[in-house]
Amino acid sequence: MLKQLYPSCAEPSLLKGIYLKLNLHQRAKAGDVFIYANYISSLDGRISLFDKKEDEYTVPPSIANARDWRLYQELAGQSDMMLTSARYFRQLAKGKAQDLLPVGLSPNFEDIKQWREQQGLKAQPDVLILSDSLDIPLAALRSLSDRKTIVLTKTQANQDKVQQLETCGVQVIQAATAVTGQFVRQSLIALGYQSAYMIAGPKVHHTLLVDGCVDELFLTSHFSLLGGQAFHSILEDDMPVNHMKLLSLYLDEQEGQMFQRFAYQQIAYQNKGK
Ligand SMILES: NC(=O)c1ccc[n+]([C@@H]2O[C@H](COP(=O)([O-])OP(=O)(O)OC[C@H]3O[C@@H](n4cnc5c(N)ncnc54)[C@H](OP(=O)(O)O)[C@@H]3O)[C@@H](O)[C@H]2O)c1
Repeated sequence: MLKQLYPSCAEPSLLKGIYLKLNLHQRAKAGDVFIYANYISSLDGRISLFDKKEDEYTVPPSIANARDWRLYQELAGQSDMMLTSARYFRQLAKGKAQDLLPVGLSPNFEDIKQWREQQGLKAQPDVLILSDSLDIPLAALRSLSDRKTIVLTKTQANQDKVQQLETCGVQVIQAATAVTGQFVRQSLIALGYQSAYMIAGPKVHHTLLVDGCVDELFLTSHFSLLGGQAFHSILEDDMPVNHMKLLSLYLDEQEGQMFQRFAYQQIAYQNKGK
């Protein structure tokens, strides 16, 4: 059970369903798309640590846990599109990434699969990848054969790599200059998507945030201190302060973590010349 601390509620809540009930797939205004991000972080702000043995940044196993993963699934279940980075596929190719969306692949998530069907959503969300290098292992894309895969890239992208991806059935869309948050948002709208779940790291997050193109943040704070010098946090590049509005807060005493949901202040910093 969870304690709902904000808005305060005396009744304990079941973990299952606290996010699925939000209907994020119906939150977009007409002609817009609703974009939400999700992270699990240690108390000292680490979402990934460099693993010397694996020669790779990975989500620290000491904070990843099944209860948070259930909520990750509930958020994924409400999306038309999962928005990720090329790095994810590089990790996947090395066998070092979590499965992108196993909705319905485990009996534990059968209810989410059924919920998607009832809501008229496709069995699996489509996938949008941000990449300038286009260094995306083609073998790693095979697991996505059941959904539409789109890559957004810069204008001067390597045309041989564009062609290779297109031959594999991937739609590649090149920005007029660089891939900005507005370009991501407008591409999603033009393609008819209404909800997008951002599961990438700090660069993609920054890209969206500085253009005012991300609506809500779901942040699990795991009650652990990890230390370490080589790590990622949810946001690393320069930007003005964004004061977040807390929408809900649950305490999970069983695992020792808090589930927080925030709305971003909607400021397009770059567009305002800040
Ligand atoms: N704990 C958590 O909840 C959580 C969540 C997400 C990620 N993580 C971890 O955090 C670490 C970093 O994740 P990440 O690599 O996905 O982070 P990221 O910093 O968001 O993405 C990096 C890659 O995305 C592409 N990219 C980002 N912004 C772009 C832009 N504006 N235009 C074009 N391409 C852009 C680039 O790909 P190219 O190099 O191909 O150009 C870049 O190398 C990983 O270890 C991951 O496992 C943890």
